[in-house]
Amino acid sequence: MMKHKLKEMARSSLVPLLYRYPPTCLAPERLYLYLHYLIEYRDVPGDIVEIGCNLGGTAAVAQNMITRLGINKKYICYDTFDGFVEQQFSDDVGRGTPTGNRHMFSGSSKRLVAKILRRHNAGDVTLIQGDITTIPDSKLPASCSVVLADVDLAEPTYHALKRFWPRLAPGGAILVDDCPEGNDWKARIGYSRFCQEAGLPEQYRHGMGILTSGATH
Ligand SMILES: C[S@@+](CC[C@H](N)C(=O)[O-])C[C@H]1O[C@@H](n2cnc3c(N)ncnc32)[C@H](O)[C@@H]1O
Repeated sequence: MMKHKLKEMARSSLVPLLYRYPPTCLAPERLYLYLHYLIEYRDVPGDIVEIGCNLGGTAAVAQNMITRLGINKKYICYDTFDGFVEQQFSDDVGRGTPTGNRHMFSGSSKRLVAKILRRHNAGDVTLIQGDITTIPDSKLPASCSVVLADVDLAEPTYHALKRFWPRLAPGGAILVDDCPEGNDWKARIGYSRFCQEAGLPEQYRHGMGILTSGATH
């Protein structure tokens, strides 16, 4: 724990140097796809939500883009801000995720991410801390237009979809990162399980699972 705290403090003091460019984790084609949905779905009402934002790089790019385009929507990020929940990660080790990934996103904090966002003129992004499977309903938006679910693991992906699908505005879309077949990350298992239970078709683009509600674009 102490090691993670020290990592967070070192990162925080070096923000201008370490995070001179927005630290996005999305592969280029998936970042493109997400931004494309944000533009194409601009007229769908409701907040934009990123579940699993890590250091806020994608949020910074997306918030700047929507501001430049006059898309006046709230951008909300959910994260533990300290990496994976132990049990959720262990479950995926049993499905083949390498144990070496355990601490991949630890050593962060809400304060650090807020600082990185401000550095990139994206201080308007709302940050909410917690495990997406247990965050109280009162902290979830009433309605969203585009959701990026990027928590890597099967269980939190499944629960995120269960919680956000009913909140998706008609004509809205959810994109789930890390869904290629045979991937180390098991998000696809959570996405596939949700689709089967909800009776929705599984659709994949550039390794992302897609869910659309109502009208297509
Ligand atoms: C791949 S990173 C997100 C990358 C980010 N979307 C981007 O594009 O830069 C995965 C994030 O999911 C978060 N996470 C994992 N399990 C979670 C859970 N149960 N609830 C909330 N956040 C979680 C981790 O802390 C980590 O920051």
